Amino acid sequence: MPHRAPENELFSDHIGQLRRIFAEAVEACGYDSVVIAAGQQRYRFLDDQPYPFAVNPHFQWWAPVDNAPGSFLHIEAGSAPSLWFHQPEDYWHKPPEMPNDAWLAEFNVSVIRHPSEAKALVPAGAVFIGESFPGIEDWGFREINPSALMDRLHWARAVKTPYELECMRIAARRGARAHVAAAAAFHRGASEYGIHLAYLAAAGHTEAGLPYPNIIALNEGAAILHYTELQHQSPAERRSFLIDAGAQYRGYACDITRTHAAAPGGRFGALMNAMESAELALCALVKAGTHYPDIHAAAHQQVAEILVGEGIVTCSVETAVDSGLTSTFFPHGIGHLLGLQVHDIGGHQAGPGGGTNPPPSAHRYLRLTRTLEAGTVVTIEPGIYFIDLLLNEAQRDGRGRDIAWDAVAELKPFGGVRIEDDVVATTGAPENLTRDAFAEFSAA
Ligand code: GLY
Ligand code: MN
Ligand code: MN
Repeated sequence: MPHRAPENELFSDHIGQLRRIFAEAVEACGYDSVVIAAGQQRYRFLDDQPYPFAVNPHFQWWAPVDNAPGSFLHIEAGSAPSLWFHQPEDYWHKPPEMPNDAWLAEFNVSVIRHPSEAKALVPAGAVFIGESFPGIEDWGFREINPSALMDRLHWARAVKTPYELECMRIAARRGARAHVAAAAAFHRGASEYGIHLAYLAAAGHTEAGLPYPNIIALNEGAAILHYTELQHQSPAERRSFLIDAGAQYRGYACDITRTHAAAPGGRFGALMNAMESAELALCALVKAGTHYPDIHAAAHQQVAEILVGEGIVTCSVETAVDSGLTSTFFPHGIGHLLGLQVHDIGGHQAGPGGGTNPPPSAHRYLRLTRTLEAGTVVTIEPGIYFIDLLLNEAQRDGRGRDIAWDAVAELKPFGGVRIEDDVVATTGAPENLTRDAFAEFSAA
């Protein structure tokens, strides 16, 4: 009997929706059919050692397999999609196993023993989606990654099907379980490296299976936004712990950040509590019809209120926002699209037919400028950090006169605070995948 996971019941509808999306996009662009490559195994320079294989997200949108180098899909309106599954005859490595799940019933499946065997299967006039490879010009593709088609598909990817949402709920539970294990390891006195291992074990992931490298930072390391050092030694004094770590299920990611204090109370404890309230208020703004940059603007307002309320700046809330002082402490965007990629593609698209809406120059790291639709999944991740480079810049350009430097000196050894949840926009109340997962896990 094939394994039947609950999401398999939804998979058939998901494929039906993808077939509709592709049929419309292909027709609008005047194409006949599409070949999607999973991708090729890549090797280190001058070496026979492979990099971890990362599947083309367009391939995984259709087929929930991640170990499929050299495989292809063929999509044509009016027929079931074809999967040309690459299964080499190899005694050096374990060849990818032919999947045995119910989802396979949605595909016409053929086995190829070498990726080049797919060439004979490519119909005339097909366009190609994927990473190019040597010799592709002889395969007869009409176009490679044509932007008119890619724009339409990337636009559509932002709205998740019920199947995709179910995968993301499972990923969120996996991430929440691992975050609880990591917090316990922190409170036991583990080093960054030790916490990382506890996280992986609880998530059931290898490093290569994570949707992005874990950020596991003790003390001042929390001020480095993409800190991936993993110190093996525990610091003599343990003050704070910021963890930004995800998990995935069938390629769908969760992206979760939590900040912990070694001891409750104090100025840092108050900052954490204030950030928790602000983050929840921002999550409540995730709704169909909301222009996402408005949430980013609301986040700057919230950050300013915290900075004033906690005595970190001496000016008014209005001045902190207008002078850009909030960006000294909160220098990144409020979040991004989430899905098959942790920073899911298409965040700056103006519409399915092309064009971009770049973020304003003062907020150039904002990854999402679209208006949310029901089924869009985004992160909400406000933070306040004590980053020397940005504090020095504020001091140089005069904004430093509004900074309470004694408060900054007290908080700098803690690095900073960030809280990040994954939230689904609906026409009603937002669905907070992360909070739901933590609640389910702690109730179990
Ligand atoms: N973990 C990367 C991010 O939060 O965007
Ligand atoms: Mn994120
Ligand atoms: Mn994150």
